[in-house]
Amino acid sequence: MFTDEPFVPATVETEKPASQRTAELDFGAAGHLYATHPLHAFAARCPPPLVDWAISRYSAPGEVVLDPMVGSGTTLVEAALLGRRAWGADIDPLSRLIAKAKATPVPVAAWDTATAQAKRLLSGTPDDGWRPDLPRLDRWFLPAAAADLARVRSVIQRVDCDQDVRDLLWVAFSALIVARTSVANVRDLVHSRHHYRPWDRDPGVPSRFLQQLRRFRRLLTDYRGRLEAAGNVTPDVRIVAQDARHLPLPDGCADLVFTSPPYCSALDYTRAHMFAVAWMPKVLGLSAAEYRDLGRRYVGTDRAPLGEAATRLTRPPALDLPAIDSVVESLAEQDLRPAWIVHRYFREMAKVLEECARVVRPGGHTVLVICPSNIRKLAVPTPRLLAHLANSVAGLKVEHVLERTLHERRRVMPYLEAAFGPRMRQEYVVVLRRPDRPRR
Ligand SMILES: C[S@@+](CC[C@H](N)C(=O)[O-])C[C@H]1O[C@@H](n2cnc3c(N)ncnc32)[C@H](O)[C@@H]1O
Repeated sequence: MFTDEPFVPATVETEKPASQRTAELDFGAAGHLYATHPLHAFAARCPPPLVDWAISRYSAPGEVVLDPMVGSGTTLVEAALLGRRAWGADIDPLSRLIAKAKATPVPVAAWDTATAQAKRLLSGTPDDGWRPDLPRLDRWFLPAAAADLARVRSVIQRVDCDQDVRDLLWVAFSALIVARTSVANVRDLVHSRHHYRPWDRDPGVPSRFLQQLRRFRRLLTDYRGRLEAAGNVTPDVRIVAQDARHLPLPDGCADLVFTSPPYCSALDYTRAHMFAVAWMPKVLGLSAAEYRDLGRRYVGTDRAPLGEAATRLTRPPALDLPAIDSVVESLAEQDLRPAWIVHRYFREMAKVLEECARVVRPGGHTVLVICPSNIRKLAVPTPRLLAHLANSVAGLKVEHVLERTLHERRRVMPYLEAAFGPRMRQEYVVVLRRPDRPRR
């Protein structure tokens, strides 16, 4: 399947020096909190101005923009704001809910009616008996917080509203838990390396929930206003798939694919999201145990390859791409486990890139935003290696690999430089183009 070709950007679109192009992408950390972007916390979110830049440059109004690893939906919101059709996929069910809810402009009047009802129901005596199937529930939630979450949950189920409004109510529920200040007994929950931090008093779930509803109203109003200004009040927003490795979409249906794929072995979204997902099994269509298992199938996870490494105790097979194989070899000399993790990451990303190349139309672009990684203090040039894979496996032409500096406050991961090696300070935008159909 793999062929090896040296990585050389195929064309350079302008004669501008690289530093100018870099400056064009240096958006700083401010001014990202417009529309519905801040609705729900999410680790490793893409900066909206960068998404806006790529969509404006590589697609036209009315065209389909697809993000096959859509996360919290930044691409969908930006695509809608630019008058594009906004399609997304994600393996994580909570991501799909958040992404769809963020990009769907629920009418403010419908939101007001639902929130007034929720407030009224909450002041009654909603059922507080339901509990999630979460191991050591009492450790992670104070009994009072768990009872209140059960009340809010039962209120959301009883509000008389349409599905879009109810989805948004569930996102407000989840935002109580997956948050910088979570109502659970955890700190740093947004980043997946969270810590136990017990509340010494009742966190006050009902009042926090009502605060969320008011905050959502402000964000929704801003989003709708911007959509009106863009003449796109009823955007085409769709969640079209779950797994980016198998997109149930016809060939050539997207005009632009834009995505920021997961990093290798960096974030385990399921560890963080579990605290909310366990409270919503019916809404998300899976139990806490099923969600835990699903986590082994995410691209970039360091959980899945452990079995492969432990049972075989052998080095991963070559992918026949020297640039990637040499990284895997170097890691294998230290430890087989990280070698398998990196091997699996590139093997799975090859499938994602093949799907991107298939669903984007001939002549259309695929844009990836990605950082290099440090694994066991070994620098892994992930952007360059993904560009290489996209070219040799998926047949995409590499147009640009643009570098931008991450703003101090925008760096995404809590980091221990001594343990993991130097921190990521650069992010890369890899611009790929599907060749035009050969002329007959
Ligand atoms: C870095 S995040 C994307 C963040 C997004 N750009 C945003 O602004 O919120 C990467 C996403 O890839 C998803 N992912 C991992 N494996 C996947 C797969 N096989 N198919 C689809 N999505 C996957 C994760 O669930 C996560 O939401």
